[in-house]
Amino acid sequence: MTPLKAVFLAHTAAPSGAELATLRMVSAMPAGQTAVVYTEDGPMLRRMAERGIETRLVRNDFDSRAMTIRKAGVRSLLTGAAGLLKLGWALGDTMRELEATVVIASSSKALLMGAVAARRARVPLVWHVHDRVSADYFGRWLALVIRLLGRVAARGYIANSRGTLASLWTWRKPVLVAYPGVEFPAHDDRSGEPAEQRPPAETVIVVVGRLAPWKGQDHFLRALAGVRVLPRDVYLVGGAFFDEEAYRAELEVHATALDLPVTFTGHVEDPEPYLRHADILVHCSVLPEPFGQVVVEGMRAGCAVIATRPGGPEEIVEPGLNGLLVDAGDRAGLTHALDTLIADQELRTKLADAARVRARDFDVAQTARAVTDFLTRLSGSRWRRG
Ligand code: GLC
Repeated sequence: MTPLKAVFLAHTAAPSGAELATLRMVSAMPAGQTAVVYTEDGPMLRRMAERGIETRLVRNDFDSRAMTIRKAGVRSLLTGAAGLLKLGWALGDTMRELEATVVIASSSKALLMGAVAARRARVPLVWHVHDRVSADYFGRWLALVIRLLGRVAARGYIANSRGTLASLWTWRKPVLVAYPGVEFPAHDDRSGEPAEQRPPAETVIVVVGRLAPWKGQDHFLRALAGVRVLPRDVYLVGGAFFDEEAYRAELEVHATALDLPVTFTGHVEDPEPYLRHADILVHCSVLPEPFGQVVVEGMRAGCAVIATRPGGPEEIVEPGLNGLLVDAGDRAGLTHALDTLIADQELRTKLADAARVRARDFDVAQTARAVTDFLTRLSGSRWRRG
């Protein structure tokens, strides 16, 4: 059997959730059997290279941002799609050069490019799905088109949660649910005794994630304005990447108007120091979160976590045991959960201790093993080169 050479294809090199998940997972896969191809320049190229991962940049000569979900009209979608198909043709050569035995598309745009590239290189295409392909996220028609495209183009699917899997049409194709993992370094000099939970008026709250309307940071600020005891500090950790600067400005206006002790850190490469410093992590996406890596990261760092359901966090948090779940968009519910945690230092300690244990179930080494096996199995399938 030909040894595995898994080539991941990404349309963006911005450090957003899916790209960071790929970075961690590829780092944990067997050395020399992976490569990552980006069609846009950005920080992920350096971050991959720093970890010794083979990376390529095959530049896109059109602006795929014009296709950003929801903003795009039919015309720009079609022009964008044509551009992606053309780029896919060029990518076919790259896949051959890299001696890919399987191509993994890590977004819907990559799926379109990958469909052409993998066919040209005569290797199977696997769709690694990081987003729920649903009407609320993509819009009704686009969601249908993307599901169909996946059904036609992909030999198999890797979904980042059971919820994401349920949003696809995978009928009779091989599927794997692989939760994005977190890293547990063997010698972790940043670990040590977890910090103690602070008394109510001194609590520190952190919200980590790209600043985007669907991540619900504005909803969080409004819920926070209603709490009985305000925390001492609140950190909103995350940058605005995909034309979302206006949202950041709006959040700053809210925080000032509501007189909340909020610090905007902007994008940080490693949010862990903030998580270790905080007592409470709030995850408050207003649409179902596909997975929600920050929830696991917060649990690993020993935060008492509040996260929203439905979505990935339901597959991570066992409410009352190692965190709390509130309904997405339920502002009163979020205020109530914040009040409960801020007031009850003992409950926070109990949840945080159990959370640290639960986070161990999401070790990226385990994810990487499952994915490597899955890809190895598919590599041997009918598109293998002779
Ligand atoms: C996407 C999803 C997020 C998930 C990440 C990694 O960014 O929105 O929920 O954690 O991909 O799969």
